[in-house]
Amino acid sequence: MSLLSTQNLVAHYGDFQALFGVDIEFGEAETIAIIGANGAGKTTLMRSIAGVLSNHANAVRFDGAEIGALPADEIMAQGVAMVPEGRKLFPSLSVEENLLIGTYGRKKSGQWTLDTVYELFPILRERRHTPGTALSGGQQQMVAIGRALMSNPRVLLCDEISLGLAPVVIKDIYKAVPAIKAAGASIIVVEQDIAQALAVADRVYCMMEGRVTLSGTPGSLSREAIHNAYFGAHQ
Ligand SMILES: Nc1ncnc2c1ncn2[C@@H]1O[C@H](COP(=O)(O)OP(=O)(O)OP(=O)(O)O)[C@@H](O)[C@H]1O
Ligand SMILES: [Mg+2]
Repeated sequence: MSLLSTQNLVAHYGDFQALFGVDIEFGEAETIAIIGANGAGKTTLMRSIAGVLSNHANAVRFDGAEIGALPADEIMAQGVAMVPEGRKLFPSLSVEENLLIGTYGRKKSGQWTLDTVYELFPILRERRHTPGTALSGGQQQMVAIGRALMSNPRVLLCDEISLGLAPVVIKDIYKAVPAIKAAGASIIVVEQDIAQALAVADRVYCMMEGRVTLSGTPGSLSREAIHNAYFGAHQ
């Protein structure tokens, strides 16, 4: 049985329809990448799963329960945490205070504490009293990931964690993925960098204009198939 899945998931912003019947599923300890161009609907999919956008109850299933209609805080308490696009740290709070935000409403015990987050990203221990805004982009991203981990999630949704970062910093951040998986979380990463997505994921979904246009294991997808699913067959 899958750990988390969407069934015929739709999303609207007012009159505008952003998702048209999206079906994805993934299992325990899997890493899934969602790729697609600007505006494809990747963030909307993450926000729908996390309960920021509401749905029919049966549109999202997690651990056998229908969670599509639950509010975001309840979904987080059940073990689905999001690292949002743009990191969204509290600028006036220190690194440590930002991390502790992740424990509010936490119901699950587990391995993630301030100490284990600092082991994962040692630079954050050094900078624990620094305000969020005084950090580099990569360090801010580490705080955003650490904050999500502090809820001890079973599913971690990561929306464009490499956006705007230097390649060496991106490598540092992705180095954390095995430890996150080893701690028992399944991961969905949204990536515009196709090579990065293929390198990290067990399976990939490509989206275009609010629909899934391709899915499969990285080894099974040809460059041409990915190109067509990403940009459309006629470009
Ligand atoms: N708050 C909003 N109000 C109205 N339309 C929106 C809103 N947020 C997103 N959209 C529209 O919904 C569609 C999907 O947007 P979404 O942000 O999910 O795409 P994305 O794949 O995450 O893109 P990007 O790679 O730029 O982050 C786009 O056409 C976008 O313009
Ligand atoms: Mg987005």
